[in-house]
Amino acid sequence: MGSNQNITLPSGSIFSEREVQKFRNENKGCSNVIHLNNAGAGLMPDIVTEAQLDHIRLEAQIGGYEASALRADLIDEFYQQAAGLLNCHSNNIAFTSSATDSYTRALSSIPFQQGDIILTDKDDFVSNQIQFLSLQKRLGVKIIHINNAPIGGVDLQDLEEKLKKHQPKLLAITHIPTNSGLIQPVGEIASIFSGYSKTVTDKTWYILDACQSAGQMKLDVKFLKCDFLSLTCRKFLRGPRGTGMLYVSDKALDARLEPMFIDMRGATWIEKDLYEQQPHARRYEDWEFAYSTVIGTKFAIEYCRNIGEDRIERQVKLLSTILRGKLQELDTDRIRVLDRGPELGGLVTFTVRDSNPLTLVNELLKRKINVVPSYRQFGVFDFDEKGVTWAIRASPHYYNTLDELDIFTESLKEILR
Ligand SMILES: Cc1ncc(COP(=O)(O)O)c(C=O)c1O
Repeated sequence: MGSNQNITLPSGSIFSEREVQKFRNENKGCSNVIHLNNAGAGLMPDIVTEAQLDHIRLEAQIGGYEASALRADLIDEFYQQAAGLLNCHSNNIAFTSSATDSYTRALSSIPFQQGDIILTDKDDFVSNQIQFLSLQKRLGVKIIHINNAPIGGVDLQDLEEKLKKHQPKLLAITHIPTNSGLIQPVGEIASIFSGYSKTVTDKTWYILDACQSAGQMKLDVKFLKCDFLSLTCRKFLRGPRGTGMLYVSDKALDARLEPMFIDMRGATWIEKDLYEQQPHARRYEDWEFAYSTVIGTKFAIEYCRNIGEDRIERQVKLLSTILRGKLQELDTDRIRVLDRGPELGGLVTFTVRDSNPLTLVNELLKRKINVVPSYRQFGVFDFDEKGVTWAIRASPHYYNTLDELDIFTESLKEILR
């Protein structure tokens, strides 16, 4: 598995051996571990690591405020890169500390009143659902779930009917859930939402949780038609931990939405009883940042965009499909691959009869293979529907090889023997 060893790629690989070898040589992790936990945190390219270390050293040498002033150009480039990633203007981007941080800032800016409805999907991220329940407890909003289609994923007809019938204050969709390989049909959701929006003016805000899709596939907010999009940078984007971003549409900015706890960066204190919010999405930011991570994120996005999100998506889908097949063939009596939906992405989930998730993960860790367990409390609807209480999540990226998938499945076989 060393980065300079020969590698084998699947037939139909989008990237050449030379390209994958280069990706593997450009980070320290690939020579140490078989990293199949990109849905947790991807391995950072060395350029991302070095950019952060450089900035921390600069802070130590000349002072934190002075270092960010000196690196203002690089910091500004984060916004340009982020805008390029999502196909929007840099004024629509806010830097945050995580996807959840982005999400709560957006959620807190929606002027909910008692009885307002949140329409959401059954595979929405656990923390979002907990926040909706908290809003229900605090403000008396109502949560309504869109049915799933028989194949999995949002039932589009039910979505359309429920939008029209309930005219919710918020439509909340998770693009790729944390606990399964499903990719929601966000293109169809976008056209249903935009058709509905034309008939019902300014009733409903749409937030898309793109935490798992960012860096795994192209995200274009003009196509997605969302008002807010939240993401994290440490996963498929391969950025630093503790980084996220929020896209805020012009419509939301023009409507003067602002986070509940806006600070001195988001607003200017003009008179003793008056503040003025920033005109752009920076109104969703806090004043204090770890600037080393902002700069690291800029390099991570640039790295991803240079490779090309479309190529990344195709390679990740190829490796994941192969992995599902290998798992299915391994032990048909005990292993059950759980992913279902109209389209599947890079999160491969499976459960094993008469086994224990922690033992499996720890045994794999001893063999330097990284995967994580997922539990029912991460996706109550999904796990109950599938009739399981836990799953192992393996999530390959474009730098993984066929050899690594073979070592993983062979190790699993050995552990289960
Ligand atoms: C779909 C989805 N949304 C949101 C999150 C939360 O991301 P963060 O940990 O950056 O807040 C995750 C994390 O795994 C996720 O998978």
